[in-house]
Amino acid sequence: MRYPEELIEEVRMKNDIVDVVGSYVKIQKKGSSYFGLCPFHSEKSPSFSVSGSKQIYYCFGCGAGGNVISFIMNYENYNFQEAVKFLADRAGIKLPEIEYSQEAQKKAQRKTRLLEVNLEAAKYYFYQLRQPNGKIGHDYLTGRELTEDTIKNFGLGFANITSNDLSLYLKSKGFEDDLIIEAGLATFDEKRGLQDKFWNRVMFPIQDINHRVIGFGGRVMSDAKPKYLNSPETPIFDKSRNLFGLNFARTSRKNHFILCEGYMDVIAMHQAGFTEAVASLGTAFTSGQASLLHRYTDNVYLAYDSDGAGTSAALRAIGILRDVGMTGKVINLKPYKDPDEFIKGLGAEEFQKRIDEAENSFFFEIRILEGNFNLKDPDDRTKFIREIAAKLCTFEDEIERDNYTAAIAAKYTISQDSLKKQVAINAAKGTTDYKPLDRPKSLINPKKDPDENGKKVQRILLTWLSEEPRIYKQIKEFISPDDFVDDVYKEVATKLFKDLDEGKLNPAAIVSCFEDEEQQRTVAAIFNTKLEDIDGLKEKEKALHDIVLAVKKSANEALNAKPDPTVEEIMKALEDKKALQKLSSITFHLE
Ligand code: GTP
Ligand code: MN
Repeated sequence: MRYPEELIEEVRMKNDIVDVVGSYVKIQKKGSSYFGLCPFHSEKSPSFSVSGSKQIYYCFGCGAGGNVISFIMNYENYNFQEAVKFLADRAGIKLPEIEYSQEAQKKAQRKTRLLEVNLEAAKYYFYQLRQPNGKIGHDYLTGRELTEDTIKNFGLGFANITSNDLSLYLKSKGFEDDLIIEAGLATFDEKRGLQDKFWNRVMFPIQDINHRVIGFGGRVMSDAKPKYLNSPETPIFDKSRNLFGLNFARTSRKNHFILCEGYMDVIAMHQAGFTEAVASLGTAFTSGQASLLHRYTDNVYLAYDSDGAGTSAALRAIGILRDVGMTGKVINLKPYKDPDEFIKGLGAEEFQKRIDEAENSFFFEIRILEGNFNLKDPDDRTKFIREIAAKLCTFEDEIERDNYTAAIAAKYTISQDSLKKQVAINAAKGTTDYKPLDRPKSLINPKKDPDENGKKVQRILLTWLSEEPRIYKQIKEFISPDDFVDDVYKEVATKLFKDLDEGKLNPAAIVSCFEDEEQQRTVAAIFNTKLEDIDGLKEKEKALHDIVLAVKKSANEALNAKPDPTVEEIMKALEDKKALQKLSSITFHLE
């Protein structure tokens, strides 16, 4: 269910954006707005602005923007309901209880109980690590160079060698047998009763993004097999939709994640300051995990083991990342096996260098492919080039394909022309045997929106209206919401004009009308596009006139360019003509 709109609006109004943002980001007043360093991308000079009068934030650097609810969604990585709940609590507003069916209620209660039993188990393991029996576990972790802080931070623990002490403890705390079993903490044995699943292992609690313990991994302290035991999947533990370390990594404030293979890698990385590291949960990286990461960023650096298995796993992960539209880069860990060993061997500074030098995933794939061929052998070399050409064909964008073709040709000293020809031959054949599952994301910048100029004047006009509503009287005769072609622009103009007609002004509420994050950013941009400083009244009047004229003109051009205009559109084109004529002979008066 959703909260009623008026209630959401009340929550929004009672949380002043300057106060809320100010509690997270250092902002200073400059002119009519506040400015600070953007929390959503890294920058050295402040381009992040917060407007108290509009109740909107907008970053001129990265385009992040929205109202106070979107800010909390983005900063805390909450969904809409969670953000509203958070802000309601902050403002002391009581939200109605969401009603559930009886069955849903039962399920929710069961999940709560599972979380409770897991938390109790985590506390128990944590405590045991500090008991005489747990010294061996503690020594093991210290031996792997983990500090006391790190052990605490990750809540690491120890499962005793006794086969049922945890079960007995949990029962004494009032947890039922079937709950303990369902949580995967014990199994039932006819003769001996409950038997702990984990014993004589160091324990890694696995937490969801809200720091709740949803499962465990347990490692032996020797070379015995299996090295790790993991909790089974339960109603609260979905291995394909959670990642180890994400509860910390999601607020690392870096614009990327580092994806590792092992729990120990993540822990060592965090200890070395790379709090953006995460790992999958003893299973291969899944598309569900990729989507989860995609909620926070587009960029993932892979820090997989440098051996053969790690390389194949990395190749698979690259494909999965691409499928959800993310860019992967590959970190070279050689001569070490994994990030944990690398950090121990060369330290954090060197690791940072490896991040900076990480390889584009397409180049990585080609390099791995190269290993299958002996390039000194002409036949092998031909095959290699053919395979490259096949891969290059999967770039649909021509500029992108050309860029990659040129780069690869240079790298492998292949003639660019012949590689291009081969690509063209393959492309002409239509399809190759090669499946385009590994299509990389663009190396080049996204294409400029051809309407950008037209949109910019529209944004200037809408920003101007939101800051000086009195100009509305003057321009209203010439401009209507239909002059804005883009859907979001048109909707914003419709709402803004309606508000102005009613003598209201509420840009932040207009942001709320859009659910999509991308659209919210657009709305924030629409209300944050100013003309450079204009001095003097006459200049200003002239500027406004130019802007209105430009908006009208581009609207009229767009209309005239339509192949099959409707009757209404033909009528509007005529009206536009008249308006343009009238505009050319009048001046605006702003006093
Ligand atoms: P260390 O060997 O202690 O450094 O651990 P690691 O985290 O580096 O482990 P490794 O690279 O060998 O394996 C990566 C991940 O695969 C681990 O973190 C586990 O999640 C999983 N894994 C490894 N061995 C086993 C196993 O025997 N059983 C299961 N279920 N998972 C395992
Ligand atoms: Mn390791």
